[in-house]
Amino acid sequence: MTDQDPRPRRTFAVISHPDAGKSTLTEALALHAHALTQAGAVHGKAGRKATVSDWMDMEKARGISITSAALQFEHADHVINLVDTPGHSDFSEDTYRVLTAVDSALMLIDAAKGLEPQTLKLFRVCAQRGLPVITVINKWDRPGLDPFALLDEIEKEIGLRPTPLTWPVGIAGDFHGVLDRRDGHFVKYTRTAGGATRAPVEHVDAARAAEIAGADWEEAVEADELLSADGADHDQASYLGGKTTPVLFASALLNFGVDQILELLVDIAPAPHATRAQDGTERAVDDDFSAFVFKVQSGMDSAHRDRLAYARVCSGVFERGMVVTHAASGKPFATKYAQAVFGRERVAVERAYPGDVIGLVNASALRVGDTIYDGEPVAFPPIESFSPEHFATASVADTGRWKQFRRGIEQLDEEGVVQVLRSDLRGDQSPVLAAVGPMQFEVVAARLEAEFRAPVRLERLGFELARQVRPDQADLVGSQRGVEVLARRDGTLLALFPDKWRLRQVQRDHPDLELGALPAGG
Ligand code: G4P
Repeated sequence: MTDQDPRPRRTFAVISHPDAGKSTLTEALALHAHALTQAGAVHGKAGRKATVSDWMDMEKARGISITSAALQFEHADHVINLVDTPGHSDFSEDTYRVLTAVDSALMLIDAAKGLEPQTLKLFRVCAQRGLPVITVINKWDRPGLDPFALLDEIEKEIGLRPTPLTWPVGIAGDFHGVLDRRDGHFVKYTRTAGGATRAPVEHVDAARAAEIAGADWEEAVEADELLSADGADHDQASYLGGKTTPVLFASALLNFGVDQILELLVDIAPAPHATRAQDGTERAVDDDFSAFVFKVQSGMDSAHRDRLAYARVCSGVFERGMVVTHAASGKPFATKYAQAVFGRERVAVERAYPGDVIGLVNASALRVGDTIYDGEPVAFPPIESFSPEHFATASVADTGRWKQFRRGIEQLDEEGVVQVLRSDLRGDQSPVLAAVGPMQFEVVAARLEAEFRAPVRLERLGFELARQVRPDQADLVGSQRGVEVLARRDGTLLALFPDKWRLRQVQRDHPDLELGALPAGG
């Protein structure tokens, strides 16, 4: 490999239930570290200072972040790539795809709420993907749950053993700092107004801590001993193996603990490693260039109606302008317009290294899951589609916009915003949209109207689950009462069932039918 960037990479995503503080933490991380690709605001809710990822009106109105991109910054001579995940409560395929592009995850938990539904789903997806997780208990500046109760909940509900690296000195809401369990020091925080600047941190030895924090310090010391006696100490191999999760206590809003999060990422989070190809071989990071597309998005900016394919670099060095091969078609692909993207901010990327995310502009040939490479050919496994659980028909509201409607549906299908299912019976007039979370329908409707000026009528269908069927069994399955068989863009046939009872009954009546389960959305 030529010209290796000497700085190691950490590529991670922050995941959480909405409102746990993901946007606040992202801003705080960028503030602490030196942001490489953008200055100023990161992103956040409507009404905050300039939000850069609010490209869609719907997103602005609802104060949620639907786009995802990567924020790159530098810390302690490392380059850190924070890949943004959708911030809404709807578990969508997008979240899963982002998690295919990172090496580890940071799970944010609201100290007062503990584990929430989205937290559980995301933890499960991380486990499926073998992603090591660091847990951050956030909002410790406010009254919250007992720290031991929070740890118990994580262990019981998720099956991950929590190994706290810090322990709060003072209860939630009356927070003086943390005991750093690795060196036994008191990390004392001083509040700054609104967390607008870096919070001054003081490292105080144990003797002095006892003087300053008195009983609160003694309690933290006791907790530390208890944890050690219980074996709840950090172990790097167990963390990387997805058996334990290191835990930190923080307040993203007041900038408490943000330094420790950055330090921890650098110290223990995994660096990019070899990527397994579809044929079972491994592409080492220092092999020839390769990357895979984990997200395709268009209409990001009304001024530039372009289409961006986000790719994670797996191996080698990417140099803007290089001509790579698109594994799916075998055709050359020119990368003249590679960019680093975060929300609306874009800068041309000249070079990128394993772990980095590049945005390829006007990459109409690239689909989610596609591989591009240079040199030795490689193809990474496709990114699985999740099993849809929500179904609706879409039809154009104004028949004069039929062509635009069709084009729009086609594009959103290719981008993976929603799965579009078709059958001869239904024809092209009103295809069936299949989604993992219902918010995907709203995105489809909003984008068809905004980008294609083709308002749609959506009608929910009474199906709840989908199973893959063999082509030779499709007619039989389709003739069952309440069941419908439709085809996905890739030709896969899906049978839709109103509920699991009907599915079981069909299986009982026809034991020879092969009804394949699709990966579950959590
Ligand atoms: P999200 O992206 O995970 O959805 O959460 P976000 O950062 O938007 O935070 C949700 C709310 O929680 C925000 O309040 C935010 O200020 C608050 N918050 C985040 N971290 C902390 C923390 O460490 N301590 C405390 N006390 N609050 C925190 P909001 O009122 O909804 O929004 P805003 O008006 O403050 O922007």
